[in-house]
Amino acid sequence: TSPAFENDLKAAIRAIPDYPKPGIIFRDITTLLGSARAFRRAVDELVQPWAGSKIDKIAGIEARGFIIGGAIAHQLSAGFIPIRKKGKLPHKSVRIAYSLEYGIDEMEMHEDAVTPGERVILVDDLIATGGTAEGAVKLLRQMGAEVVSAVFMVDLPELGGADKLRALGVNVRTLVS
Ligand code: PRP
Ligand code: ADE
Repeated sequence: TSPAFENDLKAAIRAIPDYPKPGIIFRDITTLLGSARAFRRAVDELVQPWAGSKIDKIAGIEARGFIIGGAIAHQLSAGFIPIRKKGKLPHKSVRIAYSLEYGIDEMEMHEDAVTPGERVILVDDLIATGGTAEGAVKLLRQMGAEVVSAVFMVDLPELGGADKLRALGVNVRTLVS
């Protein structure tokens, strides 16, 4: 990623102080998504290392990871796995509790969403503490997926999430710090 490109993307992301809680600076990507050029370039750049290689599925984390993950799945001709907040999936699911920068929650994935050995890329808009992504990697691996990479538009490096994922043996790709 070139510095000029990173600066363009940064300029397309809005910072909202004290949302959703006092002391949190919320990095709002809706402005980036609203820019046709920035959205396309960000998706193209995130998938660039895997263009032409066999990726079976993209796993996207609700809700913002669905937007970017859907675009990436289409781009790579891969299937899509929704990882959802608890209680939203209709079929038999596996569940894990996790913590994130501003709270705790539980996420679920259908137990038949992955065939063992499938090559999966995990997608979300942003990694902060890494609690959310770590939970998703655990669910995917539990069901036999090979997590080829985890990709995010935004990294908040001072919160250590990308390093936490790398310590679990995950290849991590981010566009903007
Ligand atoms: C945000 C973001 C990531 C997560 C990152 O999701 O989209 O999923 O937090 O935080 P972490 O690295 O500290 O775990 P949120 O739970 O706010 O859900 P949303 O996409 O539905 O807004
Ligand atoms: N998810 C966790 N921390 C966040 C932040 N600071 N901005 C946007 N999404 C987040």
